[in-house]
Amino acid sequence: MQQVQLGSQGLTVSAQGLGCMGMSQSYGPADDSVSIATLDRALELGVTFFDTADVYGVGGIYGFGANEKLLGYAFRDRRDDITLATKCGIKGIVTNGLSFRLGASPDYVKKACEDSLKRLRTDRIDLYYLHRVDPETPIEDTVGAMAELVREGKVRHLGLSEVTAEQLEKAHAVHPISALQSEYSLWTRGIEESVLPTARRLGVGIVPFSPLGRGFLTGTVASAQFGDDDMRRTNPRFAPEAVAANQAIVDVVRRIADEKGVLPGQVALAWVHSRGEDVVPIPGTKRPAYLEQNVAAADLELTPSDLERLDPLAARVTGNRY
Ligand SMILES: NC(=O)c1ccc[n+]([C@@H]2O[C@H](COP(=O)([O-])OP(=O)(O)OC[C@H]3O[C@@H](n4cnc5c(N)ncnc54)[C@H](OP(=O)(O)O)[C@@H]3O)[C@@H](O)[C@H]2O)c1
Repeated sequence: MQQVQLGSQGLTVSAQGLGCMGMSQSYGPADDSVSIATLDRALELGVTFFDTADVYGVGGIYGFGANEKLLGYAFRDRRDDITLATKCGIKGIVTNGLSFRLGASPDYVKKACEDSLKRLRTDRIDLYYLHRVDPETPIEDTVGAMAELVREGKVRHLGLSEVTAEQLEKAHAVHPISALQSEYSLWTRGIEESVLPTARRLGVGIVPFSPLGRGFLTGTVASAQFGDDDMRRTNPRFAPEAVAANQAIVDVVRRIADEKGVLPGQVALAWVHSRGEDVVPIPGTKRPAYLEQNVAAADLELTPSDLERLDPLAARVTGNRY
């Protein structure tokens, strides 16, 4: 897997990362031994950029911090081989992953970082994101505290998640931001209007989350039968009528995949990779077999005619993303 620059502050990452959230929450049951096999396989394939958050695990049997603990354990002897990204700012999740309890005061951020370092069994976080802006704390104050963590050597680079263009500008004025993580895929293109151009102007790298549309764009989510531990159960875009309407989107993706002899999810991921070298998606999976498919998609070329057929799909989506 190729290595690329993420942002203009000297952070180098694999051209595709691995989203680890589903190993501890959101998409049904997970088996730690299979998750660890997935992490091992990622390293074998040259995927070295791992995405977690302090909150991942909340609502599951192991709770807040579980995903960081899993990564800390899995990489305990290989810390120098990986680029570790984690986040703070979501204290808890309400109503099955759809609304959050937020907090990002300077004191909270500093304590959160100490706790993450312990769970991750490391002395530094390569990329530390603010997961969501705290409406009670000016973003300049939160990022000011994160900048102190950089000066103390506990964090190497700063990132933000799901911010507006204006928030990104304000934060970047306090300390250079290396990466912006937001939902971005062929059916979710909201950042293109103002956030993406602002990030590019400031030299901030883009890390699309849910690049597979929470699994939908792989064509393997045909009905809305989700378990209690699956956040898609209450996500409007996965309501039964939305799933039925959105099949038309997957049908187009699948036709292109069939023509190329690849899988629909690989076309969906290749679309994200086609957005530019400054765009580093972090598809999420807890299974080695899916990981292998996703890694292969990093080298899949889409033609101008493929892109022309994929382009109108976002406008046809039914259901809000949260
Ligand atoms: N900043 C934020 O607010 C935020 C929000 C959401 C996610 N994230 C991060 O972004 C990462 C990726 O997003 P995501 O996990 O929500 O969504 P995603 O990557 O779009 O999709 C994940 C889902 O797709 C399935 N999947 C993955 N590869 C597949 C394949 N090749 N074939 C069939 N199904 C496949 C996974 O199944 P299995 O689970 O069975 O493997 C899982 O159900 C997360 O892991 C997390 O690190 C960040």
